[in-house]
Amino acid sequence: MPGAATKVIDTPWSRSIQSSRSRPKPGGSYVKRRSVFIAGGAVVGGVLLGRQAVALADSPVQQPEGGVAGAEAPSATPFQTPMPMPPVAVPIRRGAFHDEYEINVQPAQLELVPGLMTDALTFGGGWVGPVIRGRTGRPVKVTFRNTLDVHTNVHLHGGHVEAVNDGHPMDMIMPGDSRTYDYPNSQRGATLWYHDHVHNDESEHTYRGLHGIYIVDDPAEASLRLPTGAYDIPIMLSDVKIDSTGALIYEPPKAIERNIVLVNGKATPFLPVAARKYRFRLINATNEGTYKLTLDKATMWQIGTDGGLLPAPVARPEIAFGSGERVDVVIDFTGLPKGSSVVLSDAVKGPILRFDVNFRATDTRELPQKLRDLPALSAATVQRDVRLSFDFSNGIPPLALVNGKQFDADRVDFTIKRGTTEIWTVYNDDTEPSILHTFHLHMTHFRVLSRSGAPMTADDAGLKDTVLVPPGSSVRLQATFARYLGRYPYHCHFLEHSSIGMMAQMEIVP
Ligand code: C2O
Ligand code: CU
Ligand code: CU
Repeated sequence: MPGAATKVIDTPWSRSIQSSRSRPKPGGSYVKRRSVFIAGGAVVGGVLLGRQAVALADSPVQQPEGGVAGAEAPSATPFQTPMPMPPVAVPIRRGAFHDEYEINVQPAQLELVPGLMTDALTFGGGWVGPVIRGRTGRPVKVTFRNTLDVHTNVHLHGGHVEAVNDGHPMDMIMPGDSRTYDYPNSQRGATLWYHDHVHNDESEHTYRGLHGIYIVDDPAEASLRLPTGAYDIPIMLSDVKIDSTGALIYEPPKAIERNIVLVNGKATPFLPVAARKYRFRLINATNEGTYKLTLDKATMWQIGTDGGLLPAPVARPEIAFGSGERVDVVIDFTGLPKGSSVVLSDAVKGPILRFDVNFRATDTRELPQKLRDLPALSAATVQRDVRLSFDFSNGIPPLALVNGKQFDADRVDFTIKRGTTEIWTVYNDDTEPSILHTFHLHMTHFRVLSRSGAPMTADDAGLKDTVLVPPGSSVRLQATFARYLGRYPYHCHFLEHSSIGMMAQMEIVP
């Protein structure tokens, strides 16, 4: 529970149930290797600081072969490098009714921490894949060419897409193959993101860099005159552990040691800004965790969330959001003298980004007091329970379960009649030990109705597709399954949990 000192553990196991390990090799070749990780230690205690699970993960874990055991993590001086702007994808073709893009899935060497080169798996060669800017009402087709020597696939997180275009865990792009996904953009303006979603491997692949940004711009929101162009900046946050050689260390039992927060692919960068309003689209792309963000001066006005704009801006002294969630904010630097700076910090990890006020700017537009009404809630006719839990009864690794079952692609867990509005109560049963989860639903957005019987918090407002579910709590949410037929997953978005089975499947039927 927020604030409580609770016993908590990190992800305390290995994927010994599916032990394929893969690490990119320098020079671009990508070798699949197998090594069995055995987390031999007992479940360990820790503390819960706010909503950030902090654990003392001291389970003895075998290093992967070739891994650098015990290498010191680099400790770079903060604010040395500018924050990168992820490139905006340019269509290779503009059709009469849609735009076409092409993105290579490729290995890359990147300087994530100053002075060190890191092998990563990327969309298009950067830590953050090209920003695809779709527009409501105009479809986009994206062809991903897999030049890796492992399988991948692409899921558009928060996208309302046909099942065949959803990047189902079993629907993969094999090495050397390409795949075109159709994204209809028949949804409101929103900040989405795309990432690898292959069965069992989404966790490691996403950790190593297979993630990118997708923005739906909505002509219906143009009249609000929110900051655009150079003043509308997406920021992807992800936690990594990098050793002294620059290698990304992927050890699921020790996720807590990922103490470097990458901000668009750089550790603690700075961003030169003008003395005016900016829109920042924050994306929590970290595999496993929560950020609790504050500014040392200036106000964060939250204007949107996973599925689009809020009805009105909300001043947020602090914003907590978990793996998979997005938060759109407006920060107004107007009036700050040239040479001053504003620091964005996380409650646990400290400063992560510094805004340096470097330019004068005229900004006469007020932040509108009213943004966009949410769609009306239809009456719900079906209620369901979803219980997220680990089963430690056979030791470590535990079983990762949704309603008592591990993911099985051949099993349909919920059958839903198209058009139905449902209320789901999602429980986190992991109190002993305490383990945080986030819950993510594909295909549609939902609204949070309440948390453990209490009214929802500001972190839950608006159209959501992912929510935090702290240990021992429950979240009631309401969704309408209006559009598409077929099978879609729902899962914990701590990818080390979903990749070992904390995922289930619904089938929407006529
Ligand atoms: Cu962002 Cu099913 O995931
Ligand atoms: Cu998703
Ligand atoms: Cu989880």
